[in-house]
Amino acid sequence: MATHHFIATFLLIIFVSNCSVIKAQVVVNVIHDTNGDILKTGTKYYILPVVQRLGGGIATAPTNANQTCPLSVVQLTDTSALGLPVVFYSNGKSVQNVTFDDDMNLVFDAPNTCGGSSVWEVKLTEATKFVGLGGKSMVRGPNFVNIWFRIERFFPSFHFDYKLTFCPTKTICPLCKVKCGDLGVVDQGGVWRLVVGASPLRIKFKKA
Ligand SMILES: *[C@@H]1O[C@H](CO)[C@@H](O)[C@H](O)[C@H]1NC(C)=O
Ligand SMILES: *[C@@H]1O[C@H](CO)[C@@H](O)[C@H](O)[C@H]1NC(C)=O
Repeated sequence: MATHHFIATFLLIIFVSNCSVIKAQVVVNVIHDTNGDILKTGTKYYILPVVQRLGGGIATAPTNANQTCPLSVVQLTDTSALGLPVVFYSNGKSVQNVTFDDDMNLVFDAPNTCGGSSVWEVKLTEATKFVGLGGKSMVRGPNFVNIWFRIERFFPSFHFDYKLTFCPTKTICPLCKVKCGDLGVVDQGGVWRLVVGASPLRIKFKKA
């Protein structure tokens, strides 16, 4: 009985290790834009929904009705709208391949008309974790986890559709326990605001 158990465990180990070897060989860790080119930091892209009938690209809109400022990050409802170009920054290096492991700042390539930066930041102090603007860029540590985003596959086994997540790695803050979530859209009075923890928006990247 004990021998059988040992052999079964042994075979299982061989099986598992074989699988991970095969997986390691085919894994593609870079991200592609709509031209099939590798997504690069320091380069401008439009973030567009994959399902084209559901709205347009990503841009900004006033956070509160009747007030022009501050601005939130939104998905435009107009299907033909590309939105504003976004640049990804990782570790301050200028141009490099973006991978799924990279913590990145997302910065609109357009001025923040309300003053302040065009750096995306999660409003962590608010009940709903909306994405707004105004963060400092390229800063780490417990007070700055809210500016670090990552790209993940929308479907675990399908490479070409993506989602944005708020899930900073330990590189950003070794001791922080961040509540991770996908970036999705919440309809707030006809404005589709990006929020952490909603069902994820399925996206692609089009070079601007
Ligand atoms: C915006 O203005 C309209 C018309 O003045 C008013 O009815 C509405 O309550 C205002 N909304 C907010 C959120 O202040
Ligand atoms: C980006 O990826 C391509 C394809 O794998 C590779 O040829 C290139 O050297 C990479 N560039 C950098 C900066 O790592």
